[in-house]
Amino acid sequence: MQEFRNRIAVITGGGTGMGRELARQLAAEGCHVAICDVSAEHMAETQALAEQAAPRGTRFTTHACDVSDERQVLGFKDAVVREHATDHVHLVFNNAGIAGGGSLFTDPRAEWERTFAVCWYGVYYGTRAFLPLLAAAPEGHLVNTSSVNGFWASLGPDIPHTAYSAAKFAVKGFSEALINDLHVNAPHVHVHLVMPGHVGTSIVLNTSVVLGRPSPKEMTHEDLRVVRDRIKQRGLPGDALSDDQLRVVMQQLAEDFRDKAPLGAAAAARIILDGVREGRWRILVGEDAKELDRMVRSDPERAYEPAFMDELRAKGHLDLALQPGED
Ligand SMILES: NC(=O)c1ccc[n+]([C@@H]2O[C@H](COP(=O)([O-])OP(=O)(O)OC[C@H]3O[C@@H](n4cnc5c(N)ncnc54)[C@H](O)[C@@H]3O)[C@@H](O)[C@H]2O)c1
Repeated sequence: MQEFRNRIAVITGGGTGMGRELARQLAAEGCHVAICDVSAEHMAETQALAEQAAPRGTRFTTHACDVSDERQVLGFKDAVVREHATDHVHLVFNNAGIAGGGSLFTDPRAEWERTFAVCWYGVYYGTRAFLPLLAAAPEGHLVNTSSVNGFWASLGPDIPHTAYSAAKFAVKGFSEALINDLHVNAPHVHVHLVMPGHVGTSIVLNTSVVLGRPSPKEMTHEDLRVVRDRIKQRGLPGDALSDDQLRVVMQQLAEDFRDKAPLGAAAAARIILDGVREGRWRILVGEDAKELDRMVRSDPERAYEPAFMDELRAKGHLDLALQPGED
């Protein structure tokens, strides 16, 4: 698909980050866009930005929807059909995601399952709901966001990262398997698998909201004890800071994840849209993602050893991603 003008795109998690930038860039090209999110406030900001950039006549709609709830996803699909007066869509970006649920030992089971549900079932329900509309278009593109954690289940040997990695591996396997299913049953629909490395977004801050965790500023002494334990697990001095100092550091780390990344959300969205234009099914986003892909493929047995992480860091990759809020 070379041109997005006058097409219809559906984007989950369009409130901030890569989803917002996909929405803005597509609208700027004259593509009609429907976004969903759990944050009405963030969707309104995205809509204002997109409408500023879009040519007259471009339709932009926002929809409150939790992608981990199939009933809500089906409601979102019905609203898109109604509000865009259409029986088909051309592009579906299953982009919504959160971190969290790092450890089976130390994280609450409910949190683990919430992260898995948003990152895996969000993609699965989104695909189930919108696939008939994609198949009804002359050409359709399903764009599923996984992660480097879809082929490397780690943020480093000292950081448990199980729920997110399990979900992102599932997204990768599902999307790859769909290539043949689509080839046989709907050859005019194409699937693209997005695997970003570290992209500067508010995912750390948004994760706290979706999981109902306190923001760093609201953390109690007991909440901070858990953070201290994680810091100590990594062999660092967990008691060196007062509660107030630790709150400031936690907030700063979440903001640094967004503000000091090697790649911003706008550049990441451009890479994703270029991948769709070029018809690539594997879309690695960022030099860190490309390097990790090379390293894991060349020596998979070493992928979870400390020396692997040391080599990655020595190449300047994923340093800022390794913080207590992200696991
Ligand atoms: N930022 C990174 O470094 C990075 C790396 C690899 C993969 N990813 C993936 O990229 C995708 C986009 O993330 P981002 O970095 O732009 O983060 P982000 O937090 O800026 O954007 C995600 C959006 O999804 C929304 N969302 C969260 N849970 C939802 C739910 N249950 N239903 C509907 N919307 C929900 C959030 O409110 C937010 O607006 C995610 O799937 C994420 O896992 C991000």
